[in-house]
Amino acid sequence: MEAIIAKGRMAVTILPDIDAISHEAAGIFIYLSKECIASRGRFAVALSGGSTPKKLYALLASDRYRDNAEWGKIHFFWVDERCVPKESESSNFRVAFDHLISRIAIPDGNIHRMKGEYGPEKAAQDYEDELKNFFGAGLPVFDLILLGMGEDGHTASLFPGSKSLDEKERLVIPVYTEKMNRVTLTLPVLNNARHILFLVSGQSKMLVLNDILADNEKRKNCPAGLIYPVHGDLMWLIDEAAAGKSKQAKS
Ligand code: 6PG
Repeated sequence: MEAIIAKGRMAVTILPDIDAISHEAAGIFIYLSKECIASRGRFAVALSGGSTPKKLYALLASDRYRDNAEWGKIHFFWVDERCVPKESESSNFRVAFDHLISRIAIPDGNIHRMKGEYGPEKAAQDYEDELKNFFGAGLPVFDLILLGMGEDGHTASLFPGSKSLDEKERLVIPVYTEKMNRVTLTLPVLNNARHILFLVSGQSKMLVLNDILADNEKRKNCPAGLIYPVHGDLMWLIDEAAAGKSKQAKS
């Protein structure tokens, strides 16, 4: 393992590949779950969609990690969702359900999914109510938020140049895109987490990742570069391909 940046509350760790990232993330998940449950009696986690976290989800459900988590005290939320039925292959809930939730003993009441099938506006309002019911008034404080990053620097469903990046009041907002409508947590909610963990894998992410980690002006154009927790800590787990350290990336 090689930590290339460890300044203040931000740490970047480069690992060989997605397997290593997933094992490291599973270890962090288990460690933080124990710490949060010991101090506050629960562990509230917001999950991402995309393909990168699938291995992590499967690992957490595997014999190696499953019995180390107190699932009855762990609550799953989502950072974003596509406006599709929960059975759809595009559903972020379905990714987590197939790889993790269906394989562990977790109470139904601990699963707080975004109801994408309601359509963007109603699903956003419904989820805002869900968050207020669970966390109370004010900004929610997630114990852990798992994030991924797209090749264009988007994270959750916050896209470059979008007005949603300026949202200061709402906790959850509708997102209208040509391809598929979505619902997403807003920047103030994401940045209010105790711990944020980015998982980034693959050479296609290299250029945008470089802008973000180099902390240059271009960083501000990338939604992922706007993630910096106000009180918490930020961890980036990236693989060698994304870091531009693989043989393929150098050639
Ligand atoms: C989604 C995500 C999104 C994702 C990135 C990275 O709903 O698609 O929440 O923000 O994390 O697009 O996706 P990959 O892991 O597939 O590269």
